[in-house]
Amino acid sequence: MIVLGIESTAHTFGVGIINGKGDVLSSNRDMYKPKLGEGFTPFDLAEHHYNGCLKTLKSALSGSELKLRDIDVIAFSQGMGIPNSLKVGAVLARYLALKFNKPLVGVNHGIAHIEIGKFKTCAKDPVIVYLSGGNSQILAYIDSRYRIFGETLDIPIGNAFDVLAREMDLQMPGGPEIEKSANGGKFVELPYVVKGMDMSFTGIMTAAMEKFRDGVDKKTVSYSMQETCFSMLVEVTERALAHTNKKEVLLVGGVAANKRLQEMMSIMCRDRKAEFYVVPMEFSGDNPVMIAYTGFLAFTSGQKLKISDSSVRQNWRTDEVEISWII
Ligand code: ATP
Ligand code: FE2
Repeated sequence: MIVLGIESTAHTFGVGIINGKGDVLSSNRDMYKPKLGEGFTPFDLAEHHYNGCLKTLKSALSGSELKLRDIDVIAFSQGMGIPNSLKVGAVLARYLALKFNKPLVGVNHGIAHIEIGKFKTCAKDPVIVYLSGGNSQILAYIDSRYRIFGETLDIPIGNAFDVLAREMDLQMPGGPEIEKSANGGKFVELPYVVKGMDMSFTGIMTAAMEKFRDGVDKKTVSYSMQETCFSMLVEVTERALAHTNKKEVLLVGGVAANKRLQEMMSIMCRDRKAEFYVVPMEFSGDNPVMIAYTGFLAFTSGQKLKISDSSVRQNWRTDEVEISWII
């Protein structure tokens, strides 16, 4: 079986093709990068995706040496995400499904981050730490769903890093730049906000920005931001392990690439005698392979989307998804 996956929830437009063993036959990504110091509007993203989507599709096909008629299933990211971006992928997916008479599958972007992490690391039943530009959630699979045990009460951690980075004139995406800049920094106290199992990142981000404006150097601000946010995440993850009695932790999403976060989580796991896994960096940020792979899981467990049900789902939460492929 050959599955073509389309990713288009936010900054990245991507097309990937996999076979039924999960081998990547090709993967093409085109990421929108705003100019230094600037953000972007949903309109900018949609323009970028519309202009480049056919080129990305063609490169993915030629990279796999396949034609559209060779594809068995079309999977696309249906939500959650930025509606303007999501619609580009949805329109292309619907067109391909109709024109070439192929089954269509709608994939939840967050679930795709989780499933590619499980597949690539062989984690079986982990507590999942999903940290990205749009989400910060601690989840675990129980009874047909990935249940959310803790999450951000306001902005996601990746977003907090990106905004702080922009304030300090660092390149976008800001997370990797904060990580580099943290090297050699000292610790200054920032608000530490854990409420029950939930976390808040807005106050920390604002306080870090104030420290920078007051003359604290970039290294120290970056280091303190990382240490504070990551300590909160480790605390909640440890409690989720205790609540669920699970024996594995899996880190996924764009922020999973951060080496200091990986180090802090791995120390906690070692102390609790839990296995620690991280999604490989190639698959941590948004990529179309995770959509193709989750589309494969959904399709082979009986899911198929009617065109009339294929509208984008901007607020489609991870815990609303029926997980039909875990028995
Ligand atoms: P979502 O998955 O919630 O829709 P997204 O798709 O925008 O969000 P991803 O591509 O999964 O997010 O992750 C991008 C985020 O990861 C950005 O905020 C980026 O700054 C952050 N990030 C990437 N690498 C690192 C790193 N090394 N350290 C910290 N943050 C990082
Ligand atoms: Fe993502």
